[in-house]
Amino acid sequence: MKKDKEASGLKTQNSSGINRRSFLAKSVLAGVSLSGVSCSWAATRSDTGKGSNNAVAAINEKRRLGSLEVSPVGLGCMSMTSGHYNPPRDIEEMVPVIRGAVDQGVTFFDTAEYYGPFSNEALVGRALAPVRNQVVIATKFGFQFENEKPVGRNSRPEHIRRAVEGMLKRLQTDRIDLLYLHRLDPNVPVEDVAGTVSELIKEGKALHFGLSEVSPQTLRRAHAVQPVTALQSEYSLIQRVHENQVLDTCEELGVGFVPWGPVSRGFLADKFNEYSRFSEESRHSEVPYFEPEALQANMKLLGLVRDLGRRKGVSPAQLSLAWLLAHKPFIVPIPGTTKLHHMKENIGALDVKFSQEELKEFRNAFSKIELVGVRSSESALTDM
Ligand SMILES: NC(=O)c1ccc[n+]([C@@H]2O[C@H](COP(=O)([O-])OP(=O)(O)OC[C@H]3O[C@@H](n4cnc5c(N)ncnc54)[C@H](OP(=O)(O)O)[C@@H]3O)[C@@H](O)[C@H]2O)c1
Repeated sequence: MKKDKEASGLKTQNSSGINRRSFLAKSVLAGVSLSGVSCSWAATRSDTGKGSNNAVAAINEKRRLGSLEVSPVGLGCMSMTSGHYNPPRDIEEMVPVIRGAVDQGVTFFDTAEYYGPFSNEALVGRALAPVRNQVVIATKFGFQFENEKPVGRNSRPEHIRRAVEGMLKRLQTDRIDLLYLHRLDPNVPVEDVAGTVSELIKEGKALHFGLSEVSPQTLRRAHAVQPVTALQSEYSLIQRVHENQVLDTCEELGVGFVPWGPVSRGFLADKFNEYSRFSEESRHSEVPYFEPEALQANMKLLGLVRDLGRRKGVSPAQLSLAWLLAHKPFIVPIPGTTKLHHMKENIGALDVKFSQEELKEFRNAFSKIELVGVRSSESALTDM
């Protein structure tokens, strides 16, 4: 039996048969920095690789989440310190990944109090301090912690205010560009949360309001009190539940959509196979679409992704991200990675274009696949 590649420490191999160098050829050009930004780490910039001019141009074609402008692909920083998908990495090794993303033109960085907890915000704050005014930092509140362990949800106004003070310190900043409610607190109406964030916005401590994993109805209620800039929920080729009314509601209200898990926690990046098994410490072991029968069944989808990727000369991760980007102009995925070369590969998705015919053909093909371990379409209408 083959083992999970991460767990076994094997060098990641790509089972799609596509040469990994050719993926990287789709990544953005070396050494691209934000124009006019003086990076304190410029003298020590690490390797960069080569890529197409198109992707370089595309990363600078900003997308709008409500009134907020961001690079079309962001960077999810969670797994750098959270231990969800891999043991927490050495911060000294992660700072260059975040700074490497800035060098490549990424301006949108995602963290949360929950990741670590707290250590992820500290990492992001430290890595981005030298370019603070050129980047957009998004973080999330909504949990109560005791002895640095989450013990439940808490979105009471005084708790949100305390949380934000801690975030500002850890992030080494005087304002949070995008402040999300991570998970709805069943004891606090979303209107009260929106009201508190609205006050924080008036005080300049937050600039924009976001929600995560809420139903269209909750989104509307919050938006009526304080305009919502972005909704962040899991969305990928494997988890398409938010196509049931959520994306339409975002479009109607002018709210951006930020897919988390855009490469299905590594599955669509061809990181695992039907024989992959996960230890209890890994978050993968709690995700239904990583259970043995599900992995087996869902390989059909990965097979399709590999095939289309081969046709277009791109990797499965790039194909999967490009599909999200092609879906709606207000979608900005935030693939998470601990590796600079994966980050560059992911940005290369911006170079992948689909014709309407291709999109139709692809949807036709994947819609026929019965996925296992995914959320029901109705669950999109319920707060998580
Ligand atoms: N709002 C929420 O409730 C919520 C929940 C979870 C996450 N998030 C946010 O969303 C971000 C992204 O979601 P996610 O990290 O859960 O899932 P994801 O982005 O779908 O997958 C991340 C995993 O895929 C691997 N990966 C990424 N690109 C790859 C590539 N090109 N080739 C091979 N492997 C690749 C990474 O491993 P390597 O490190 O080896 O690259 C990592 O283990 C997080 O970082 C976090 O900021 C939000």
